[in-house]
Parts: sequence; structure tokens; C-alpha cells
Amino acid sequence: MSSLLRGKDFITTQDFTKEEIDLFIETAFDLKKKLARGEIHPLLAYKTLYMIFYDESTRTRNAAETGITQLGGHGIFLSPDKMQAHHGETPSDTAKVLTRFGDGIAIRHCQFGVGNKYLNDIAESAEIPVINLQDDKYHPTQILADLMTIEERFGKDLKHIKVGISWAYAESHLKPLSVPQSQILLFPRYGMDVTLAYPEGFDLMPEIVEQAKQNAEAGGGSLKITHDMDEAFVDADIVIPKSWGGFYTIDNPMEADKRKEEIMEKVREHKDWICDERRMSLAKKHSVYMHALPADRGREVVDSVIDGPHSIVWDEAENRLHTMKAIMALVMGGRP
Ligand code: CP
Repeated sequence: MSSLLRGKDFITTQDFTKEEIDLFIETAFDLKKKLARGEIHPLLAYKTLYMIFYDESTRTRNAAETGITQLGGHGIFLSPDKMQAHHGETPSDTAKVLTRFGDGIAIRHCQFGVGNKYLNDIAESAEIPVINLQDDKYHPTQILADLMTIEERFGKDLKHIKVGISWAYAESHLKPLSVPQSQILLFPRYGMDVTLAYPEGFDLMPEIVEQAKQNAEAGGGSLKITHDMDEAFVDADIVIPKSWGGFYTIDNPMEADKRKEEIMEKVREHKDWICDERRMSLAKKHSVYMHALPADRGREVVDSVIDGPHSIVWDEAENRLHTMKAIMALVMGGRP
């Protein structure tokens, strides 16, 4: 394994070997301990991170902005409607300018069919690392936090840990596919056995599923797909029920609204896809409940589960900070 991660883009975990992912996780554990001890760790002193958010965020933005501060650098929040991108400045021109000023560009752009392409367009012209804060395909910073949280609970050897990833009913908004897609890609690389459950019509991207199967083959894990939510819970060590359905583009707002309503109608047919006490009782006694958050309480999950003894969502949310710091420290800093 090369320790030279400096300068690399962090767009998907697929771009990193398992050993490199382990280095991110070990660095995150190290930074978590340093923060707990009150040891200052200015690994990115005087460095600047630009954070472009096309979509809303609570955890990801604050993990990045708090994280860069704790590392001795500075984060600048950029809203696209206040940038010249709003008047048509190209991703390439934006990337070249930010390259001349600072040390990293972090982007959230979840629009279906657009976000991942935008990130790659920026990365092509930027000479500083580009970090994916969630696009339409991947949410790699979330998934590193998930892996760290799983290792905290189950240790380093995750072979044949059984993970149930399930679609769940939600009405707040049509959530991107990027969280379950990133989970099915990464977890089988660690030997985990993943059961993915969703109602007919809510398929993830076929190329991602194909890649996840190849990862399972190489990593000793497995990926099984079912349309029965209970099946994801039976005998599971970890359950991750979460909605998705952002299969629409917004080039034409009227068409987008029509498409969103069509999808919402299908979503409403599956109000029984909820994580409740009965379903939790199907999982192992020591099972844990995870969710990237925000959760639709009363729809995706009942309060007694998310606030109950199986839930580790607050550890998972906290680990967003430590893993984000590890990513920034290694790709924006690292070996001189
Ligand atoms: N899990 C997650 O990405 O949260 P935010 O949307 O609040 O950033």
C-alpha cells in the first residue's frame, strides 16, 4: 500500500484499495482519540477547503467545516446561487480558479444524472483534491463513518457479519440512492453478508449492483436482493432501513414535479415498510440499528427503535466528523 494519498480525489471508495480505506479508518480513530484527550492536531494549518453545496445538509457540512477548523485550516461555504456558476461559469473555470486559491474542493450535488458528472468535471480541471460530500451515485464520506461505527461495535474482523439494508417509507423528500449504493459497494469488500430489500420498482443503479457483486466475490462477502423487508431483518447483526427514490432530473421543473408526484404515489403504496419493534425482534438480540440521518420518524422508523437500545445513530453521526477529518488530513495534507 502506498501512503501517498496526498492530492487524490475522494469521489468513491471504489478508487481506493481496502488497505487505503483502512488507513482512513485508522486515522479517524486516531483523530477521535486526540480530540477526546484535548490534543491539538493542526495537520492542515493555513489550508483552505471550499465547500460547494447544491443540496441541504446538517451533518456533512458541519463535519467538514468543524473538521477543517479542528485541523487548523479554514472552510468556506459556497452556495451555487451566490457563485458565478449561477450565471453559467463552467465547472472547469470554477475549478481552475479555486485551485489557484486554496487546497481542497468539497461538493454535494445530488441531482440524478448530473451530480456525479459535475464532480468529475470539477476534478478533471482542479489540481487540488475534490471530495465528494454526496452525489447521485455515491456518499463516500458517510460510508466511511458507517464502517468506523461498525468496527467500534463489532471489531476489525467483519467477515460474515450480516447486514440488512432496506428501503423504508418516507415522505419528507425523495432521497438519493447514494447511501445504499455506497454501502452495498463497500461492506462486501470487508466480507460482510448484505441483504438488500426494496419494493419492486425501487432498483438501485444496475452498474452499481454489478460492481457490488464483483466486490463481494473478491472480498469474501455476499449480496442478496429481495423484495421482502422482513428478510433483511431476519438474523441480522446490523439493520439499516432508509428510504430512496430520487429518480428524477430537474431540467424542466414542470416535468420534474410531475415525475416526483408519480414516484411519491408509488412510495405511498409501501407505508408498511417501516422499522418497528416487530421487525427489530427478527434480528439478532445484539443487533444494531443504523441510519445516516435525517430519519423520517414515524415513517422510516418508530421512535422506540431510533431512541432505543439497538440504535447507534448518534455514534454514527459523530463519526462523520472523525472520518471527514481523516479524509481531509490524508488527501489535503499527508506526506510532504
Ligand atoms: N447523512 C447526511 O449526509 O446528513 P446531511 O444530509 O445532514 O449532511
